Amino acid sequence: MYIFRDYYNNQVKLSFDNHPFSDQPKHVWVICRYKDRWLLTKHKERGLEFPGGKVEEGETAKQAALREVKEETGGSVDNLHYVGQYFVSGKSENVIKNVYYAKIDKLVQQKSYFETEGPVLLESIPENIKYNQQFSFIMKDEVLKHCMDHIKNVY
Ligand code: GTP
Repeated sequence: MYIFRDYYNNQVKLSFDNHPFSDQPKHVWVICRYKDRWLLTKHKERGLEFPGGKVEEGETAKQAALREVKEETGGSVDNLHYVGQYFVSGKSENVIKNVYYAKIDKLVQQKSYFETEGPVLLESIPENIKYNQQFSFIMKDEVLKHCMDHIKNVY
């Protein structure tokens, strides 16, 4: 288990065990790979981030992951792998989020990308994005680094 503070100084607990905080998390985040590039989305307010969002009523977390990737990037997921789960102790609420790793096999242009401006492909994730205004706060804590390390070791 890793424990650290996020960009807003909230405490975050991250684990690569099987659903350590909740079997039914309400949020998902999907680290996407398409043709040797990382596939992100550009959120209209937060900036560049891997796609994700809230699990809707009647949906499983995995279904939410597939839907969010499609909505925010136009990508269809070939393979979805559970990576880990994190718990953010927020000021007014707690957030439990599943992290997945997805291999994308097709990127199809969408009419709308919901709250985002759509897909952004990057060869690499720059160092020091903590100080890079283009990137979203959810990319700015240790969740990203630990998950990328985990993915590198497993896939
Ligand atoms: P909407 O209902 O979509 O407008 O969402 P919201 O802004 O209320 O946010 P959400 O329920 O997604 O998250 C509530 C709070 O949890 C956010 O303001 C953040 O402080 C925190 N949070 C959500 N997701 C993450 C995340 O991936 N990483 C970190 N560190 N904090 C997060």
